[in-house]
Amino acid sequence: MHAIETKNLTKHFRISWRRKVVGLDQLNFIVREGEVYGLLGPNGSGKSTTLKLVLSLFQPTEGEATIFGRSVEEVASRVSVGFLPENPYFYRYLTGEETVRFFGRLCGMRGRKLEDKISELLQLVGLEIHRHRRLAGYSKGMLQRIGLAQALVHDPKLLLLDEPTAGVDPIGSIEIRNMIIKLKQMGKTVLICSHLLDQVQDVCDRVGILYYGKMILEGEVKDLLARKDQFQFVCEGLNEAARVRVRDAIAQHGARIVTEGNPETTLEQLFLQSVRQAEQDKK
Ligand SMILES: Nc1ncnc2c1ncn2[C@@H]1O[C@H](COP(=O)(O)OP(=O)(O)OP(=O)(O)O)[C@@H](O)[C@H]1O
Ligand SMILES: [Mg+2]
Repeated sequence: MHAIETKNLTKHFRISWRRKVVGLDQLNFIVREGEVYGLLGPNGSGKSTTLKLVLSLFQPTEGEATIFGRSVEEVASRVSVGFLPENPYFYRYLTGEETVRFFGRLCGMRGRKLEDKISELLQLVGLEIHRHRRLAGYSKGMLQRIGLAQALVHDPKLLLLDEPTAGVDPIGSIEIRNMIIKLKQMGKTVLICSHLLDQVQDVCDRVGILYYGKMILEGEVKDLLARKDQFQFVCEGLNEAARVRVRDAIAQHGARIVTEGNPETTLEQLFLQSVRQAEQDKK
């Protein structure tokens, strides 16, 4: 039994009496229990539409979807699902703590159990110190985290996260990524939609790429990214004389050097290093 399974899932939107837009076109995919699956694709490719169909917020034009083996048409299929929407709506005058309590009550939770859960979740998303502040004063990254806490309040087995790191800075994004890894370790299944490719690379077991509502590529991240025909060493302290000998050795083995030089860091790593350095200097 899979966490999610879709069969020919299709959604057409009628935008005028004779024009329709294809939101999703005959999608067949599965999300296995316990995995982190990344649904990628450019803007308008059908990522959010897929989530909304799985949550039965949209009626499919054709096809079907199941959650843990139950048709999404059954309300009970959604009991074990947590959802972080694309643009979560919050009551600005509630504090962080009150927001999670509000969603917990909506899920039928009460008393000690709910209060313990609120503390645990605020800790998990790193908002413990801001729990008594109103959301009106939260930054975008903080709102995204409270959205995550809200999605987790009823301890769902499956989480659907639509652009969880949208508008969040690189440090916040890494924290959210670490949180997703923690959720996987807790045994949860996670489906993430994103167009920030390098952000999902580290957390997803498998990814699928949507394009105009169709799945154009799917597979395990490490398989998709590995270049099996090439191999690289990254060395420290290799002087010029040694380099000449290495080049000779490679040539002797009938191999060819494709690139060599100083590896570049990513802008993200540079950003993180600088911020960490500045934090250290401040102490
Ligand atoms: N409620 C709606 N009414 C009409 N068209 C819609 C509706 N929701 C989505 N669409 C259309 O369906 C297509 C897929 O949209 P969707 O929101 O699923 O894309 P997405 O991959 O989530 O994009 P983004 O990266 O911008 O969030 C788009 O062409 C969009 O215009
Ligand atoms: Mg979207």
